Amino acid sequence: MLGQIFVLLCLSSAWAQQLCMPEASDGYKVRLSINTALGDQAYVWNENEMFLFRATLAFAMRSYSGGQDYNVSNIVVCAETPRVSFWFVVTAPLNSSRLIDRSDVEEAVRKSRNRINSAFLLTDRSLEFIGIPPILTAPVTPDTPQWLIVFGVVMGAVGAGIVVLLVTSVVEKKRKKNKKSGDEDIEEEPREKTEGNGFARDGVYNMSFSDDDPVTQM
Ligand SMILES: *[C@@H]1O[C@H](CO)[C@@H](O)[C@H](O)[C@H]1NC(C)=O
Ligand SMILES: *[C@@H]1O[C@H](CO)[C@@H](O)[C@H](O)[C@H]1NC(C)=O
Repeated sequence: MLGQIFVLLCLSSAWAQQLCMPEASDGYKVRLSINTALGDQAYVWNENEMFLFRATLAFAMRSYSGGQDYNVSNIVVCAETPRVSFWFVVTAPLNSSRLIDRSDVEEAVRKSRNRINSAFLLTDRSLEFIGIPPILTAPVTPDTPQWLIVFGVVMGAVGAGIVVLLVTSVVEKKRKKNKKSGDEDIEEEPREKTEGNGFARDGVYNMSFSDDDPVTQM
């Protein structure tokens, strides 16, 4: 696999292979965890995806440099592995044998980090630029959702507790009334109460007393 990629790179451009090498001083390693992040929705990493990566990076370089016409051919990729990782370097638009400084690439990636992530439906964790920690974007996004999640869980638990209490108390009242209504003397009282208390009780009442009702009414 690696061999084939190297052969392809050699054929397409001799320069590219010299410029982009693993551990290159101006290069960055990228690691993607598509399956882990997307599960059933995971897409297959192929040449089209790689083209999109190079395009988004060219976009990031354009946004950062403000006016320089980076295009896809300025993003040179090498050392691709099947469980997706690869190295890339950025060449200058006006001189494709000159590499862009590592620090400039880092700033460009930082600035467009959200756009790059969203292009691949991934996050800072599942789309890693090794050596470029996502300092700027990290504190903004996870803060509110975490509070919301905790809040949601607590409110959900409280709500569920209230529902359980209501249901159990209603069921217990029903049982007590069932026992009482077994005696013929007190039979009329529970019926009046259920009419006053609303629909929910009527429904339960009808289900449990469907056999007794016709008899008592007659
Ligand atoms: C990208 O830019 C280089 C240098 O400006 C140019 O030679 C090349 O044709 C361009 N490629 C595309 C696909 O536009
Ligand atoms: C392009 O960049 C290389 C490496 O930095 C340099 O040696 C060369 O002179 C440059 N070419 C031009 C035309 O500027």
